[in-house]
Amino acid sequence: MSKKIITKKFIPGQSSISEEITKLLNYQIGLEANASAKYLAMAAWCSAKGYDNSTDFFFNQSEEERQHMLKIFKYMCDMGADPVSPTIAQVEPKFDSLKDVFITALQSEMHVSESINNIVDQARAERDYPTEQILQWFVEEQVEEEYNMRRAVELFDLLGEDKLAIFMIDERIPKIQYSNPHGTDTEAAQ
Ligand code: FEO
Repeated sequence: MSKKIITKKFIPGQSSISEEITKLLNYQIGLEANASAKYLAMAAWCSAKGYDNSTDFFFNQSEEERQHMLKIFKYMCDMGADPVSPTIAQVEPKFDSLKDVFITALQSEMHVSESINNIVDQARAERDYPTEQILQWFVEEQVEEEYNMRRAVELFDLLGEDKLAIFMIDERIPKIQYSNPHGTDTEAAQ
């Protein structure tokens, strides 16, 4: 069986990461950094409304996204690729409701998952195993992140959106806990 030869463009003499993967990883750095900013805006909105648990949740989430950005940034540095410090768009803390906040967060996470999958696709096509391996951590992390946001959205379907329901949902937010079927803790592995 003949082996398929894949041609990829490298930055001469610098890195075994191709130009295409470099571009995708830098896009991902931007997504993670902007997700961090979005979650800060959500924390500010929740705080102004008095939703204390949701406020804490989004502050923590914002910090996690920054750690995700740094993880990719550091990997690129280690591999001699060229990470780009991202442009972060200003985000106004304006949302229609707490449900709207969590729906927006879920949609953002689904977009991040799609982007991660794109990089895995490209890494496989180029037989870039180091990048594929580091991205596996993100694949697993995204299952957890989508789960957390989806569970929160589902609480509104269960309980409604009157004042008491929202109070109960905010109380419930810290109890949302993803149970990883592989028994690995992606947070601890950061
Ligand atoms: Fe790092 Fe929630 O994506």
